[in-house]
Amino acid sequence: MILVTGGAGFIGSNFIIDWIASEQTPVINLDKLTYAGNLNNLTALQGDARHVFVQGDICDGALVGRLLREHKPRAIVHFAAESHVDRSIHGPAEFIQTNINGTFSLLEETRAYWQGLPGAEKEAFRFLHVSTDEVYGSLGPDDAPFSETTPYAPNSPYSASKAASDHLVRAYHHTYGLPVLTTNCSNNYGAYQFPEKLIPLIILNALNGKPLPIYGDGLNVRDWLYVGDHCTAIQEVLAKGRLGETYNIGGWNEKTNLDVVHTVCSILDELQPAANGNPYASLITYVKDRPGHDRRYAIDARKIEHELGWKPAETFETGMRKTVRWYLDHAKWIQNVTSGEYRNWIGKQYGETS
Ligand code: NAD
Ligand code: DAU
Repeated sequence: MILVTGGAGFIGSNFIIDWIASEQTPVINLDKLTYAGNLNNLTALQGDARHVFVQGDICDGALVGRLLREHKPRAIVHFAAESHVDRSIHGPAEFIQTNINGTFSLLEETRAYWQGLPGAEKEAFRFLHVSTDEVYGSLGPDDAPFSETTPYAPNSPYSASKAASDHLVRAYHHTYGLPVLTTNCSNNYGAYQFPEKLIPLIILNALNGKPLPIYGDGLNVRDWLYVGDHCTAIQEVLAKGRLGETYNIGGWNEKTNLDVVHTVCSILDELQPAANGNPYASLITYVKDRPGHDRRYAIDARKIEHELGWKPAETFETGMRKTVRWYLDHAKWIQNVTSGEYRNWIGKQYGETS
């Protein structure tokens, strides 16, 4: 049995579904169900006794301690976080609370639990911390991609809070010997991503004939990785990663935001042409830039590739096609996530009233 935090979010739910399919062993899923947490992401596991859902906060030490003592997991995979950069600019407090204080509280409870484990179980235990490439800051056009030794230089409240959590995880290894692993991954895309993030936002706006908002000049670069490939990488690191090490995860797949949006539009033009006959790209609209917008992220993934033999299975083309298809096929899921809170966010960020 493993404990997953944040398993009702985008990557966590993909991870649990893949884990149960491949490992066949049970998962306790601790998730607060913030606006980003959604049990509809896990309907594939309804009635499956291998998935035990607990609604709760990682900051609640008493709850975490009880879950650890009762279920005795052999590993913790820690996804729970506030994850959206734009929200961290509007309101950083939640990011400090969950990403820093929450990770600290989880580490404290884990340390107490791990220290009390008998020899072989103590030896085998792992704490895997899921982090981001954003902790490394922003690259110039000719800079080498981020490696595991690139100095930290986080620029947004989100990335600063993730960087702080990475440092705490590292310190718990060096000071207490806690058996930790950290992964720093690039931008994910795929099924179940909340439509505040670029790719699902563009798909939904296009289908609704709404403007496709491009921040600044649209030439910011991200490295894009299909979510299923991120999940297999985490499984590899959990199984074979060296204790105390960090592993960068990426797809060698740098794209400008404009490239990404044009790719989404052309797949949609093919799969579900607009009723008015216009190409979806005609909806592209340049809007005010994100404050402090990082220009370029790129990942040097050689360490995980060479040491653990991991490679992504999807190309950007195959992964994007699967993703667009998934959103076209899941109108009910979309309807559920775009009510209520979602509308408030879109109004606040883009000034829309509907
Ligand atoms: P998400 O926002 O979709 O999901 C986060 C989940 O955490 C939600 O289910 C939410 O309810 C839960 N949560 C939030 N606060 C909590 C708390 N205090 N206690 C318990 N649960 C809480 O995020 P995501 O995109 O799935 O990202 C998951 C992790 O991966 C994050 O740590 C993020 O920093 C990291 N990451 C994301 C990406 C990406 O492209 N999305 C890339 C690299 C790393
Ligand atoms: O790099 C990993 C990170 O990727 C993760 O740690 C974060 O959790 C995840 O949200 C993501 O961060 P980004 O800020 O890169 O993702 P987002 O989808 O918000 O934006 C991608 C790019 O698209 C970025 O350059 C901003 C731009 N953008 C985004 C939105 C929402 C737009 O141009 N218009 C938009 O409306």
